[in-house]
Amino acid sequence: MPKHVLVATEKPFAKVAVAGITGIFTQAGYDVTLLESYKDKADYLKAAAAADGLIVRSDIVDAEVFQAAPNLKIVVRAGAGYDNIDLKAATANGVVAMNTPGQNSNAVAELVFGLMITLARRGFSGKDGTELRGKKIGIHAYGNVGKCVATIARGFGMDVLAFDPYVPAGTMKAEGVTPVASAGELYSSCEYISLHLPKTKDTVKSIGADLLVKLKKGGTVINTARAEVIDEAGLLQVMETRPDIMYGADVAPECAAEFAAKYQGRYCFTAKKMGAQTAEANINAGLAAARQIVSFFEKGDTTFKVN
Ligand code: 3PG
Repeated sequence: MPKHVLVATEKPFAKVAVAGITGIFTQAGYDVTLLESYKDKADYLKAAAAADGLIVRSDIVDAEVFQAAPNLKIVVRAGAGYDNIDLKAATANGVVAMNTPGQNSNAVAELVFGLMITLARRGFSGKDGTELRGKKIGIHAYGNVGKCVATIARGFGMDVLAFDPYVPAGTMKAEGVTPVASAGELYSSCEYISLHLPKTKDTVKSIGADLLVKLKKGGTVINTARAEVIDEAGLLQVMETRPDIMYGADVAPECAAEFAAKYQGRYCFTAKKMGAQTAEANINAGLAAARQIVSFFEKGDTTFKVN
């Protein structure tokens, strides 16, 4: 029996990436089912029933999915953050979970600058703006995306600082980045803060008023990580008490209506989560996911396993 892989993407990959993914599986002699833009979880569960392997993006992979897929051996999140996968349930069901780290980082990093420039130039509204050159950017969590942001920021002539307790100061220094000892120091030192924390139980709501009030005058926070790392009550409090502060995010917060009502011109939200939504990122992450599945089945390769 050929292996069967389900590609379940509520937010589809670019067509060129789908062709590449399908090509990798066809060459390996595997069958592929493509389930795109599904509206009903029942369709997803039904499609998972025959799957030995599964590729997803931000699609939820919970206990119900594992139960519906008795043959499933591997799930690959084509992307970086795997907070959408219930890792305990994966392990309990004998399923290997992987991500594809670094593959979509540049796309997310470029969006950071899109949001920064949109806010710095007042939404291209005709009002006077400011430049990025000479400003300080603070990278909160220096992983793959943070590194890409640092590289691009240097091209803009920005000073780059970073806070990440898991990355040695020497690594940052070697890459032209000034490490700081605390999040508070980062926020009080920079005109721009770019968030790149993963969503974990420790980071949810971890960016609140206590940090945001420390921002320099005219400070801007850009969130292309997960919406949930922001404490929205704290964000709203600081938007109210600090009329100089701006917020840009890849996907609107739950309190978007309040921003629309009170803070026009001081925020920019994407219509849907689109940091990784480029043809290049889809090709990089989607093809990596397909190759990881083939390599797992053919060679037992568990590189990038996260459970
Ligand atoms: C990621 O974690 O890789 C990004 O947030 C991209 O998510 P997406 O595949 O849903 O666009």
